[in-house]
Amino acid sequence: MAASSSSSPLFLFPPLFLLLISLTHAQTSFQPDALVLPVLKDARTLQYVAHINQRTPLVPVKLVIDLSGRFLWVDCDSGYVSSSYRPSRCRSSQCSLANANSCGDCFSGPRPGCNNNACSLSPQNTFIHTSTSGELAEDLVSIQSTDGSSPGPIVTVPRFLISCAPTFLLQGLATGVKGIAGLGRTRIALPSQFAAAFNFDRKFAICLSSSTASNGVIFFGDGPYMFLPNVDVSKSLMYTPLLTRSSVQGEPSDEYFVGVKAIKINGKQVLLNTSLLSFDSDGVGGTKISTVYPYAALETSIYKAFTEDFIREAKSMNITTVAPVAPFDVCFRSNSIGSTRVGVVVPTVDLVLQSESVYWRILGANSMVSVNDDVACLAFVDGGSNPRTSIVIGGHQLEDNLLQFDLASSRLGFSSSLLFRQTTCANFNFTSNG
Ligand SMILES: *[C@@H]1O[C@H](CO)[C@@H](O)[C@H](O)[C@H]1NC(C)=O
Ligand SMILES: *[C@@H]1O[C@H](CO)[C@@H](O)[C@H](O)[C@H]1NC(C)=O
Ligand SMILES: *[C@@H]1O[C@H](CO)[C@@H](O)[C@H](O)[C@H]1NC(C)=O
Repeated sequence: MAASSSSSPLFLFPPLFLLLISLTHAQTSFQPDALVLPVLKDARTLQYVAHINQRTPLVPVKLVIDLSGRFLWVDCDSGYVSSSYRPSRCRSSQCSLANANSCGDCFSGPRPGCNNNACSLSPQNTFIHTSTSGELAEDLVSIQSTDGSSPGPIVTVPRFLISCAPTFLLQGLATGVKGIAGLGRTRIALPSQFAAAFNFDRKFAICLSSSTASNGVIFFGDGPYMFLPNVDVSKSLMYTPLLTRSSVQGEPSDEYFVGVKAIKINGKQVLLNTSLLSFDSDGVGGTKISTVYPYAALETSIYKAFTEDFIREAKSMNITTVAPVAPFDVCFRSNSIGSTRVGVVVPTVDLVLQSESVYWRILGANSMVSVNDDVACLAFVDGGSNPRTSIVIGGHQLEDNLLQFDLASSRLGFSSSLLFRQTTCANFNFTSNG
């Protein structure tokens, strides 16, 4: 077949023609490399609230972010109207993907959330520790794409899997919120569904703003993750393995755990019962990252050792303790604390990870919270004496840090405070060109 390399125009023309067709096709079915979702901290509840567009016709829907959540659920009982809503039929591939094995009929329907022969999930409101049963369904979701620097074209996933929930499950959520967006480690949480829909890496990053007036951002997909003025945070992350909790029951958890090996305050190791830092045979122990806890929570014995050391170190820096202000136990006189561009100057907290040289450093902006003009408190609380998880890293500790979750390689990339790089999580450029 030597003739196939012929340069005759007759032979050249068809491939060129095909190339043009395929370019046109690529334009109409635009394939984004990444997506962005703005997230705003709610001042009253301290929840992180994202806005997404959903349904046909599209409506904006506010959802609270739950890093550990297993899927997206919304209230279908009050005013859910959508021509693209499709309940997932029992034993369909959608039900098995979602692990939705319970199946049944609903006789007061048909309507969104109540159809015969549909499988159901257990939507959970982690803020009030309540779960119920809700129909699995598909509906359209639309979201902004990004090149990592600013928003690009809006893209849609016509058949995004969601769970319905009754209205009462919204209790305890920020005003106007219609459900919870789960970012956990399941096939139907937002990161995996978006990655599958657009065929990009199963990675996402959260960058929560400490401000209740300016949006932070969640990226779905890989970097760059650009923040004004032109800082690509994806280029300077430290990495640690993401761990899963598996217990004798066998089901691996959908939450994100990291392996904290020690805690240091001003470089000095806090003496604690290290067996609490790993999982026991029942899956109790360990360190997880949560957007549901507003502040870090430490198991009681760890909390005691930690706060005693912190107070001692603060004293050596001439920082004066004052009467605590709930929910905190350890508070200081604000005017005894120095302050810099990157936050108040208090003892440095390091969470030491897989080796001495890999640690998550927590400085004043993430360890302290100002409760009024005169008092600043240590933003860590007592997690009780038998918690399922020994250390929970909470929302306040995550703010103005970028965390990248790489699901395929089970790895967390973390930036430490962006304040050191003269930027913040509120500095993603949400202004689009169009
Ligand atoms: C350390 O913690 C483990 C797990 O809770 C517990 O069984 C053990 O008794 C503790 N050890 C000490 C010395 O307190
Ligand atoms: C704390 O105050 C003492 C007495 O005023 C002073 O000698 C010391 O240098 C101060 N320490 C720090 C870290 O500022
Ligand atoms: C933000 O992005 C838009 C669109 O790409 C661009 O026109 C604008 O200059 C950017 N803003 C800044 C401050 O860079």
